[in-house]
Amino acid sequence: MVGRETTRPMVGRETTRPMVGPDATAADPLLAVADLEVVYGRQIRGLRGVSLEVGSGEIVALLGANGAGKTTLLRAITGLLRFHDGAITGGRIRLSGRDITDAAPNVIVRAGAAQVMEGRRVFGEMTVEDNLATGAIVRGDRRAMAARREEMYELFPVLAERRAWQAGYLSGGEQQMLAIGRALMSSPSLLLLDEPSLGLAPLIVEQIRDFIIEVHDDGTTVLLVEQNAAMALSISDRAYVLQNGSIAMTGPSARLRDDPTVQALYLGIDTEGGRRSYRDVRSGTSGTGS
Ligand SMILES: Nc1ncnc2c1ncn2[C@@H]1O[C@H](COP(=O)(O)OP(=O)(O)O)[C@@H](O)[C@H]1O
Ligand SMILES: [Mg+2]
Repeated sequence: MVGRETTRPMVGRETTRPMVGPDATAADPLLAVADLEVVYGRQIRGLRGVSLEVGSGEIVALLGANGAGKTTLLRAITGLLRFHDGAITGGRIRLSGRDITDAAPNVIVRAGAAQVMEGRRVFGEMTVEDNLATGAIVRGDRRAMAARREEMYELFPVLAERRAWQAGYLSGGEQQMLAIGRALMSSPSLLLLDEPSLGLAPLIVEQIRDFIIEVHDDGTTVLLVEQNAAMALSISDRAYVLQNGSIAMTGPSARLRDDPTVQALYLGIDTEGGRRSYRDVRSGTSGTGS
């Protein structure tokens, strides 16, 4: 809820939850990306040989510098590459054991994966209420849609207060809540979030973080793309680090938090224990920008 009196501390969560849900087997994770190759416009390499798994019930973080390929990976999973002159040139993507490689976006939403796109895109001219409705297109049933919308208003009370507002008049944080709410309208089993904290004030980032935890506790598996590595590592079970279109590192989030390379590149902590800005580290040691 907005303005909850308790904000969970920015420490790691217990990783006692099983990596896979009771109905899945270890060989059949909710999301399985294998040896994925993506190219933009025939020439530009987007991803090379990316393999990643998300087990049912997990929060998995995907970290990486600007231009590393995080958005590209989400686009590949949700079928949106085609709208960006991109294509999958190798590898497979499976959702709940079903091959969704190159499937159409609406098919993938029906299969249970919904994405909150980078830049919290909402329809600014449309009301909050209508924005939420657009996320429910696959549901068909009007009554079910209205019921689901009420659940979103419970999750995000500020959206209920502003249900008749044009979305363009919402604050950045409220627009992000609306974007998340819209994605949740299809009751996805997997929610993919692309940098939900980007450009938001620290207090709002804390709220968004709490919402992600709440959504997860309600039974949604989460793949969280973030440049805010501290935030992402604080709530995820495992994490992957993308670098230049390849997975450079993966492991339990608690371990990555203690890794000197991750600390230097993504957490703004140098090995001597002093603090450097992310920008300093990036310009000094990394050339992975676009
Ligand atoms: N539509 C596009 N056409 C060509 N190249 C693109 C396009 N979108 C992204 N890229 C390139 O693909 C690489 C990965 O970008 P992206 O997935 O957006 O990275 P991230 O989300 O990690 O910042 C970058 O080099 C970027 O310039
Ligand atoms: Mg991106």
